[in-house]
Amino acid sequence: MLELGASQPTGAAEDVPQPGAPGDHKPLEPVKVADFQALAAAKLPKATYDYITTGSADEITLRENVAAFQRIRILPPLLTGVANADLSTTVLKQVIRLPILLAPVAGQQMYHPQGALAAARAAAAAGTVYGVSSSVGHSVEEVAAASQGPKWFQLYVPKDRTVARRLVERAERAGYQAIIVTVDMGEWKDADRRNRFALPKEVLIKHLRDIGFTQITNAMSYQEVLDFNAQAWDLTLSWDFFDWLRSITKLPLLIKGVLRKEDATKAVSLGLDGIVVSNHGGRRLDGMPASIEMLPEIVAAVGGRAEVYMDGGVRRGTDVLIALALGARAVLIGRPYAWALGANGEAGVRKVLDLLREELLNAMVATGCAKVSDIRPTLLRRP
Ligand SMILES: Cc1cc2nc3c(=O)[nH]c(=O)nc-3n(C[C@H](O)[C@H](O)[C@H](O)COP(=O)(O)O)c2cc1C
Repeated sequence: MLELGASQPTGAAEDVPQPGAPGDHKPLEPVKVADFQALAAAKLPKATYDYITTGSADEITLRENVAAFQRIRILPPLLTGVANADLSTTVLKQVIRLPILLAPVAGQQMYHPQGALAAARAAAAAGTVYGVSSSVGHSVEEVAAASQGPKWFQLYVPKDRTVARRLVERAERAGYQAIIVTVDMGEWKDADRRNRFALPKEVLIKHLRDIGFTQITNAMSYQEVLDFNAQAWDLTLSWDFFDWLRSITKLPLLIKGVLRKEDATKAVSLGLDGIVVSNHGGRRLDGMPASIEMLPEIVAAVGGRAEVYMDGGVRRGTDVLIALALGARAVLIGRPYAWALGANGEAGVRKVLDLLREELLNAMVATGCAKVSDIRPTLLRRP
């Protein structure tokens, strides 16, 4: 299958709906993230599309993530003499070509058969980091074999610390460059409950065995596998978990799900290397504030002692500019690339990263920023 690549001329792709006759309102070649949402909606089973797209309960946080960006104004200085911009930066001392990372997103083999392998290759092609979910659908080793690009492993913590330890060691051995521990809780997604969304038995078995739960076999009934899954994960983590994690790995450690400056300060005091300001894309406890709203006070509290990242609601290059102006080292995107993966596999993810790169480049030139470190808070007017 000919897939849509960054360098292909418009209209070359088989999978992308083509412009039709006047009055034909089929989606055109994607020119923005929202176009990939429409393409994914048209292509994926409804329950899968809903799983990606919806948020918890009344989706207040989901909407707020996007709306909070839209309340911030950009005030560009004129005649800055900038005609091009260098989008490269460093994350955890590693040079990347784009300050936009792929956030850990579960279940990617349901969006496209190549799933995480396709996403890993697309991130590598864009010169950025792939945050690999522990529930991604492929093992750490399979994802590592798919691309040489930088990868961070996102850990959901098995109760059995022997399994947890082996998993971290496997990620380290496979060349992952950091561990992200996701700590936010409280998922309550109406759409998933209505759709009775659940992983098929064989997918769940592969996932659990990939984690290292080798006692799970095909001989078990679906209910037995579900019961095992329900009790396998540690939902009672406390801060001392990071002391344990630090004792078993040399990799840089990030905590994902931080919204309070007190928690950011605690993370810094424990020597964590990075903080991801996140409300899980509005998929956890509804009613939490937008990540971008909490970013400035967390950046201030951290005071440069760790790197601060953010995710949630990034849909445009101008959103990236805003987040970087407010002190984020880089942003992570979730749904934008999940939709693109569903719409068109690796080529889709490449294209969505391309579009955001072009939009960010345009925003940087328009604001006189020749490099990422030129992006300052003084460019913004906030309510
Ligand atoms: C379908 C889906 C699955 C997700 N799975 C995970 C996961 O396994 N681990 C995790 O830390 N975050 C997960 N997230 C949250 C993302 O890492 C990220 O925080 C969020 O998507 C950012 O918001 P955005 O979708 O508006 O970009 C998931 C998000 C989506 C959309």
